[in-house]
Amino acid sequence: MEIRKIHDKEFKLFIPNSQIRAVISAMADSMNRDLEGRDVIFMGILNGAFMFAAELIKHIAPSCQITFLKLASYAGTSSTGTVKRLIGINEDIHNKTVVILEDIVDTGITLENIIRQLRGYEPGEIRVATLLHKPDAYQKDIVLDYVGLEIPNDFVVGFGLDYKGFGRNLPDIYRVVAS
Ligand code: IMP
Repeated sequence: MEIRKIHDKEFKLFIPNSQIRAVISAMADSMNRDLEGRDVIFMGILNGAFMFAAELIKHIAPSCQITFLKLASYAGTSSTGTVKRLIGINEDIHNKTVVILEDIVDTGITLENIIRQLRGYEPGEIRVATLLHKPDAYQKDIVLDYVGLEIPNDFVVGFGLDYKGFGRNLPDIYRVVAS
């Protein structure tokens, strides 16, 4: 069993890179079917979604745009509940199909905040794609249009996801070992 130590916590291998890539490829297949003929802009939420976005976009067939937005809402292993301003919207998204790319939807507080702010720019529609989802932690009613994998309510790192700023570079996803 492969174990990684990051700061004070140990993490064990949970989702290997081959499985992550297969899941993302399947998500792209669904999007390619759904989004054909639409004016689509993908919006990756930094920092966590950079790897997911990079892998996904390689499999997207229709002509599209991709950009990255940023907000910070997480410290350590629990949601702070604080919401921050979305920065980096330089494109005109009026009447476009916006596909939000998230690394993980946990409580959904961050996602709700992002959607509320994006609506102000009057996109045609907003869809949500998340690599990981923790249904047991989810507190919102927002429909998640594309979900890679549903996972238990445990803290995970790797493939863009961090613990206190570290672990984003790991190609696989690791799950915290209960201490
Ligand atoms: P939410 O607002 O609770 O849905 O949390 C969303 C954000 O919290 C994600 O975009 C991540 O940045 C972070 N997050 C939630 N769960 C985890 C986790 O297990 N590992 C790393 N980051 C997480």
